[in-house]
Amino acid sequence: MACVKVCGVGELAEGSALVVGVGRKEIAVFRDGGNYFAIDDCCPHAGASLAGGHVENGTVTCPWHAWRFRLSDGAWADNPKVKTGCYAVSIADGSVYVEVPDSPSSTASGATGT
Ligand code: FES
Repeated sequence: MACVKVCGVGELAEGSALVVGVGRKEIAVFRDGGNYFAIDDCCPHAGASLAGGHVENGTVTCPWHAWRFRLSDGAWADNPKVKTGCYAVSIADGSVYVEVPDSPSSTASGATGT
């Protein structure tokens, strides 16, 4: 398991995202509703960066064709059978970390950033 520091708590503005590289993966870390979430940055439809999408009410809307993905589990909001990778986020010592298992799974939860 890789545990990667993303940023300091409060450095990521509400409704925004940043991308961290973990091995060969790029993971988008979002802040929404004061919580942090991490899903694969690459949209499973055609490869857009989800970090560039609009974040609202627990979802990110892909900037290319407007597919919406739930931040809590990486599922496509219109067809939850389609999912992108989703990763656990933790807060420790004033920093935000994303946890990426050696074989990434689709389970994760948001971390409160307060
Ligand atoms: S690339 Fe994301 S919806 Fe098409």
